[in-house]
Parts: sequence; C-alpha cells; structure tokens
Amino acid sequence: MSLLEVDDIEVRYGAIRALKGISFHVEEGEVVALLGANGAGKTTTQKTVSGMMRPSLGEIRFDGERIDGLPAHDLINLGICHVPEGRRVFPLMSVAENLEMGAFRFKRPDPQLLARCFEMFPRLKEREHQYAGTLSGGEQQMLAIARALMGKPRLLLLDEPSMGLAPLIVRQIFDIVREINSTGVTVLIVEQNAAQALGLANRGYVLETGEMVLSGTGKELLADDRIRAAYLGEEITT
Ligand SMILES: Nc1ncnc2c1ncn2[C@@H]1O[C@H](COP(=O)(O)OP(=O)(O)OP(=O)(O)O)[C@@H](O)[C@H]1O
Ligand SMILES: [Mg+2]
Repeated sequence: MSLLEVDDIEVRYGAIRALKGISFHVEEGEVVALLGANGAGKTTTQKTVSGMMRPSLGEIRFDGERIDGLPAHDLINLGICHVPEGRRVFPLMSVAENLEMGAFRFKRPDPQLLARCFEMFPRLKEREHQYAGTLSGGEQQMLAIARALMGKPRLLLLDEPSMGLAPLIVRQIFDIVREINSTGVTVLIVEQNAAQALGLANRGYVLETGEMVLSGTGKELLADDRIRAAYLGEEITT
C-alpha cells in the first residue's frame, strides 16, 4: 500500500477542468517530483491532496484511508502539511510565532522540534523575534518549511520552494529537503527547477494541461529527451 494514492481525479474551477483524471502514487519515504509547464495543474494537484480543493471525480487515499472531501484541518491532523506557492508566512507575527502556528494541532509546540528547526535554519534563530514580513525571500521560504515541520508531517507538500531565490539559496533549500526526507518524511515537491528536483527525487511525474503525460525514476526523466527539451532548455539534435 502506498502512503498516498491518487486515483483518476478530476478537479474543476467552474467550467474549467484543471485536472482531467490524473493518477499517481507516493510511497512512504520517497521524494516525488511533480513537473509541468505553467498552468499544467501542479498547484491544483497539491491543493487537492491537502484538502483545499475537492475532486469532482476520483479518489485519494492516504495510508489506505479515503481522504478526498475531508476538510484541510483533518488532513493536517493526519500529517499532511502543505507549504504553498508564494510561502505565505504571517508577516505581522514574529518568526517564533509563525513556528508556533505550525504546531497548532498539538497542545503546545514540541521544544525539541523547535530546537531542531533552529539548528536546521540558523538564520531563523538569529531572527527569532523579527517580524516574518521583514525576512528576505529565502528566509521566508525557510520559515515556511520550518513552520510545516513543526506540524510533524508524514507527507510534506512543497510548491515551488526555490521560486525566485538565488542559486546558493536554492542549493540550501534542496539540501534541507534532502535532510528532511532522510528523517523519514515523505515529500511531494512541485518545481520549475527540473534538474535539481529530479536529482533529488526517487521518481517524478510530468503534467501537461491537466493530464499526466510521463513518469519515471528521477534518473530516467533526467535522461528523457522530452524533459531535456522542455525543462532543461536543451535542444534535441536528431
Ligand atoms: N482559482 C482558479 N479559478 C479558475 N481557474 C484556475 C484557478 N486556479 C487555477 N486555475 C486554472 O487551472 C489550471 C491549473 O493551474 P495551476 O495553478 O494548478 O497550475 P500550475 O501547474 O501550478 O502552474 P504554475 O507553474 O504557473 O504555478 C490553469 O489553467 C489555471 O488557469
Ligand atoms: Mg503552481
């Protein structure tokens, strides 16, 4: 049994079918990358898994249980934590308060986990009492990830964590994702940065206008001509 099984889901925004019956699975302990051009449906897929959207058709199972249609807070309690596109930290709360919010499903934040987050992100420790809205883009991304970790995820959904960040920070973010995964957290990551995402991922899927068009191991997809042409900016010379 997979940790996450998505079975032929259709998701609509009114008349628009954003997902036209897609299926995929994520095994416990894996990092799975979701790739695709702008508007392909990557964010919609993650929102549907985290309960922000409901599929009009199909099923989603987490740890064997049907979860489609459950409200987002129930999914957080099951350990599905979502770091949405654009980070969305609480700007008028301090770094420490943002991290506390991430632990809202528990009576109180786990102090050991908080210490671990600060160890993983020393910049956040230095800025513990600073308003989150005053952090740099990279720091806000780190805070968004750390806030999700405070919820003790079993499945972490990351939507374009490297967006708009300098190459050095991007590398740090990917290193952190690898480290988080090595502690047993399963990761479903959406990325424009296909080379780095596939370098990290066990497997990947490619979405195109709401349909799953390609899947394979990270290595297979990195070597695929279609991926190289579409996402790695390489010309095919045949
Ligand atoms: N709130 C909405 N109302 C109507 N249509 C929407 C809404 N959100 C997304 N869509 C449409 O659904 C489709 C998929 O959008 P989605 O945001 O999932 O794509 P994406 O793959 O995450 O793209 P990007 O790489 O630009 O973030 C697009 O055609 C988009 O216009
Ligand atoms: Mg998106």
